[in-house]
Amino acid sequence: MTIAMNDLSTTRPATREFLAQEHRLYIDGEWVAAETGKSFAVLDPATGEQVSRAAEGEAADINRAVDAARRAFENRAWQDMKPALRERLLHRLADLMEERTDILAELDSIDNGKTVGIAGGVDIPCAIDCFRFMAGIPSKLQGSTLKPSVPFMPDGKFFAYTNHVPVGVVGAIIPWNFPTLLAAWKLAPALAAGCTVVLKPAEETPLTALYLAQLAEEAGFPTGVLNVVTGFGHTAGAALASHPGVDKVTFTGSTEVGRLILQAATGNLKKVTLELGGKSPAIVLPDADMDIAIPGAASAIFFNHGQTCCAGSRLYVHKSCFDQVIAGVAEIAKAMKVGPGLDPLTEIGPMVSRVQQERVHSYIESGKEQGAEVVAGGTVPQGGGYFVNPTVFVNTRPDMRIVSEEIFGPVLVAMPYSDLDEVLAEANNSDYGLSASIWSRDVATIHTLAPKLRAGTVWVNCHNIIDAALPFGGFKQSGWGRENGVDAVTAFTETQAVCVAL
Ligand code: NAI
Ligand code: MG
Repeated sequence: MTIAMNDLSTTRPATREFLAQEHRLYIDGEWVAAETGKSFAVLDPATGEQVSRAAEGEAADINRAVDAARRAFENRAWQDMKPALRERLLHRLADLMEERTDILAELDSIDNGKTVGIAGGVDIPCAIDCFRFMAGIPSKLQGSTLKPSVPFMPDGKFFAYTNHVPVGVVGAIIPWNFPTLLAAWKLAPALAAGCTVVLKPAEETPLTALYLAQLAEEAGFPTGVLNVVTGFGHTAGAALASHPGVDKVTFTGSTEVGRLILQAATGNLKKVTLELGGKSPAIVLPDADMDIAIPGAASAIFFNHGQTCCAGSRLYVHKSCFDQVIAGVAEIAKAMKVGPGLDPLTEIGPMVSRVQQERVHSYIESGKEQGAEVVAGGTVPQGGGYFVNPTVFVNTRPDMRIVSEEIFGPVLVAMPYSDLDEVLAEANNSDYGLSASIWSRDVATIHTLAPKLRAGTVWVNCHNIIDAALPFGGFKQSGWGRENGVDAVTAFTETQAVCVAL
């Protein structure tokens, strides 16, 4: 099978103009080159060809950006801005994103490989929604009033209240699977809280973070409130994570780097939020509506080509309907059109990089070697792009790498089960605990099972449903803390108690 090229001529002129720009870092309201003058190639994963270049920021650039964010925090222009005005700026940014949805979607598609339809229909609208949701919070942030008893001061009378004080300078490090959306998940609550930010996008997908910085500039954010440093993880990322001038790091990415972020945070004991890997179970009960469960189980893994932290990558199906469900999911996998992200007919785009393609491919090979059976896919198409065919494995064992490790590609492992205790034990038999889904019409069983699943999100008759209002994050090694929801903003604040002797 030969895969067509990604046709950049189908994109908006503004998208192509942006690609052609000589990209710089955005520090202190200025567009500046990296101190070393270095830059790196931005590749189209559908072809492996260079489509743009980004400045290669390193420790010196992170220092400049953190200093700028520190000044912007200390001058209080942002944190003391009337909440209503801070809200208006966040809404203004959301408005600009809405106006430029097509450009943002095309840039994410070209940069990441995801289909332009998903980028424009899911990533960008959800990112805009996140800014709007968080924009609603500054004017509603409330502390509490308290009457302390103070047992060691029998005659004392006290009055106390709490403040939510912005935590300070935030370092945000994000991966490549949802470039605009994950930037929004970090920026929107941090900015709403009154923090200033240094954002380091993934080296695979630097474009929309830079585009967002342009929009923030256009919206009129005060100087230094948002800074973007593009560059690599072991240099720019590590410098940001260990910087003594950063008060909080918020990270999304691999569990392995999550551990490094934690270690780097020990110097100044900065606060840390981590959203890490997953190996999420989808559980089909025997009474499920198969017209919903079968396409749902397929979409749980194949959405965004499986490059989703909460992907339903382990499918557990009751033995009474296992053959039916697997046949259905395999049929969907075989029929999916693999192709470049800009082609409107594409359902599975390329992996983000050669490294990721090889990683996913090596997992597929390990599954075959360890004796699992391929019922769909299992191959990598020929050609220059980083494609992997959607793959379904059966006849697996819990000790196989494809069952226990995060693959982060369009690879599903499916297992039959006999009873609820068995499936619960298997579903929870993972170092990860990001999400799970239950497919059933039996209300009592659903709500008996849900709280026993060790997962930050449990979906019922759906999977990969995210919303700015819903807290998102992991149990176990899937992370620390939660993103989204009202509490996402307070997570970027320190709670201060003010105690007054009357
Ligand atoms: P990664 O965790 O290395 O990269 C994510 C971000 O961390 C990037 O911005 C990167 O530059 C930065 N980074 C890397 N090393 C760093 C360090 N020492 N200090 C500070 N920042 C650092 O993820 P990678 O290598 O792109 O993907 C590897 C695997 O991680 C994937 O196959 C997948 O299993 C998992 N992953 C999980 C994601 C999620 O959404 N939870 C997203 C991306 C990857
Ligand atoms: Mg890495």
